[in-house]
Amino acid sequence: MKATSTALAIHGGRPVRDEKRPWPVWPVAAPGASSALDAVLSSASWAITSPYQSELQERRFARMFAAYVGTEHCVPTDHGSSALVITLESLGLRYGDPVLVPALTWVASATAVLRAGLVPVLADVDPATGCLDASAVVAESEVSAVIAVHWACNMADVPAIAAAAAPLGAAVIEDAAQAHGARWQGRPAGSLGAAGCFSMQHSKVLTCGEGGAVVTDDAERAGLLEELRADSRRYRNDPVRGELPLRESANTMGANFCLSEFGAALLCAQLEVLDEQHAIRNRNYELLGRLLADVPGVRLLSRNPSQDKLSLYEVPLIFDPLPHGTTNAWAASALTAELRIRVYPPRPPLSRSRLLAPWLKPTLAPLAERLAARNAGRRFPGAEYLANHAVLLHHSAFLGTEEDMMDLAEAAVKITRYIASGRPA
Ligand SMILES: Cc1ncc(COP(=O)(O)O)c(C=O)c1O
Repeated sequence: MKATSTALAIHGGRPVRDEKRPWPVWPVAAPGASSALDAVLSSASWAITSPYQSELQERRFARMFAAYVGTEHCVPTDHGSSALVITLESLGLRYGDPVLVPALTWVASATAVLRAGLVPVLADVDPATGCLDASAVVAESEVSAVIAVHWACNMADVPAIAAAAAPLGAAVIEDAAQAHGARWQGRPAGSLGAAGCFSMQHSKVLTCGEGGAVVTDDAERAGLLEELRADSRRYRNDPVRGELPLRESANTMGANFCLSEFGAALLCAQLEVLDEQHAIRNRNYELLGRLLADVPGVRLLSRNPSQDKLSLYEVPLIFDPLPHGTTNAWAASALTAELRIRVYPPRPPLSRSRLLAPWLKPTLAPLAERLAARNAGRRFPGAEYLANHAVLLHHSAFLGTEEDMMDLAEAAVKITRYIASGRPA
């Protein structure tokens, strides 16, 4: 690592990163993206509810993504949040049933539970991995479903969680919004639980701006999911040109959570480059791990050896120990100044998130009361540890070169040395 000024950039010193070297920009449009969008534009078929012309992009993407994840079925949606809502609805639970949700996740993992008329019960995560651990499920006496979130770049141990949930009769849903292409003992994220939910929102590794999908091997559930996301309608087996390709099957009551044809066409194009991008990011991540291996005071999150492929989303660097008075929020600002790229602390655990506030919606009052009652007295030391010691970097920072990793490591070393010197942050 090259020697730099020891004065921190946040204190006016020279930043590690030269301003003439920009970081990779996200998203990266795949080579086929522009022509795929043009084809939809000129097709007069912009939605799955347009008069039928030829195979819908949405059907094509569903086939491609199911093949990618290794499941029988895929039902695309307009958001990852709605993927979670309809998957929870497909379980056929009763109003107010409790659903276990890890405390360290994006708020949508819990708000989807409320939107489905259910109550999130918050569980702590393993501070070593950031994910829900089977022991947290064993500790529960009454939950109707479990949402196993794959967090940041780590996968939850879904087989162990499912084994712990089975005696409770609780289904396990994977929230794989952050984990497209990750693998556990060779099996893709999303294919390990009763169903897997993905987000294709702007920041995700596979994106069309706003989008989502549910994958499952269960044909009956897939049919229900189709209805739940298209106002109680399913695809016709024999679509007729010029007519609506959906029929009113109405086995359940749905809503409109459909992905647009533009989103689906873009996702088909982006999926073609996803594994190439994974390879670049994962190679750079391994290098960063080697560069930081002997650096005291900073480390990468450890990963369960059963996870045999990473899908980087927000990459955590853990600063520990942090002396009294030095926060990870400060470390994130100091790194941002050194690197000229946004580095940020994780969101607070859901137990103290301003965003999880069902009492602000009068129609959710009964669920809000149950939320408060079910979560009273629960503690989240694992989630708090990571929320207070990690800083996060978006996966796009890993799409560049080895020099980029050297800059990251050098900036991390600079910050840890400053922290170790005992000077005030
Ligand atoms: C873990 C997790 N679950 C659910 C979602 C919700 O996805 P969307 O923003 O597409 O609704 C996200 C999005 O960030 C997420 O990270």
